[in-house]
Amino acid sequence: MAYKNLKFPDNSVFLVTGGAGFIGSNLVEAILEMGYKVRCLDDLSTGSRKNVDMFLDHPDYQFIKGDIKDFETCLKATEGVDYVLNQAAWGSVPRSIEQPVFYAHTNIIGTLNMLEASRQNKVKKFVYASSSSVYGDEATLPKKEGIEGNLLSPYALTKRVDEEYAKLYSKLYGLDTYGLRYFNVFGKRQNPDGPYAAVIPKFISMLMQEKRPTIYGDGKQSRDFTYIENVIEANLKACLASSKYAGECFNIASGGREYLIDVYNHINEKLGKEIEPLYGPERTGDIKHSHADVSKAIEMLDYDCQWSFKQGIEESIDWYRKNL
Ligand SMILES: NC(=O)c1ccc[n+]([C@@H]2O[C@H](COP(=O)([O-])OP(=O)(O)OC[C@H]3O[C@@H](n4cnc5c(N)ncnc54)[C@H](O)[C@@H]3O)[C@@H](O)[C@H]2O)c1
Repeated sequence: MAYKNLKFPDNSVFLVTGGAGFIGSNLVEAILEMGYKVRCLDDLSTGSRKNVDMFLDHPDYQFIKGDIKDFETCLKATEGVDYVLNQAAWGSVPRSIEQPVFYAHTNIIGTLNMLEASRQNKVKKFVYASSSSVYGDEATLPKKEGIEGNLLSPYALTKRVDEEYAKLYSKLYGLDTYGLRYFNVFGKRQNPDGPYAAVIPKFISMLMQEKRPTIYGDGKQSRDFTYIENVIEANLKACLASSKYAGECFNIASGGREYLIDVYNHINEKLGKEIEPLYGPERTGDIKHSHADVSKAIEMLDYDCQWSFKQGIEESIDWYRKNL
């Protein structure tokens, strides 16, 4: 794997916020396997206790149950930490449209607290989760850093504000920050349940249970679905990036795009099913097409993006077969 041979100084300590969630728990697992110490800070609001319990016996793992909205918690969690991977946030565009104030508190104030705590504790690198949603209604494809449109949801706004704060922290205080604009990440441990679940785990789980998933819109919307291994690689490579790129944001994706209906058909076929989907109305705040230009991450972070969409789907189906 592209990241497994990366070397950090001995005794490096990583803090993963949101480490009980989908992306965070995969980061925790990868870093422990590489032999470094990991602290996880999570309030378990959308994350799962199972994603914490599975590591509790590991001597290099420490769990802090806490909220990034509380500055003292962030300060304590960043003590002695070399690298922060800030994943804690509330996701989902539709839910943010229902709860805009809550999203601002969690996703903006929470990230600002983490930036400030990292500055005070002299963290080496602050890598954080941004999102493809910052491109808003910009129609240019592929999406390129620096060409952003009007935002379409409170969620997207929180991520845009996080990016601005991070850039400012690099400029004003010399904290090395790197923003990773994830594009529709999927893979093991992604929650398939509930109205705000992402499409891939939802399709896999429902089809496995012989249920008919709903496609919102005509299914002709496209997304740059990104397998989790690519995201782990990007986070670890950002921790090793040159300080001259501090304050920058990077698209983290596969660099291709799939139509939702094709994804549906592909999963159906892989599972050996012939289940017809249901169709529902288009969702407010959703964009029609998303496809990333990943050349900036390749050039500045040495991002490899080894895993294709199809390989990722195989692995994911395998995992859900064993774990659902
Ligand atoms: N999954 C994707 O496709 C995707 C795409 C773009 C961006 N992102 C971003 O990546 C990050 C991780 O996403 P995910 O898919 O793993 O989501 P997730 O919901 O599985 O994980 C988020 C974790 O953050 C924790 N959390 C939430 N609020 C917190 C708070 N106030 N204090 C401490 N912990 C808190 C939750 O309990 C959860 O464990 C988020 O910042 C998300 O916005 C994800």
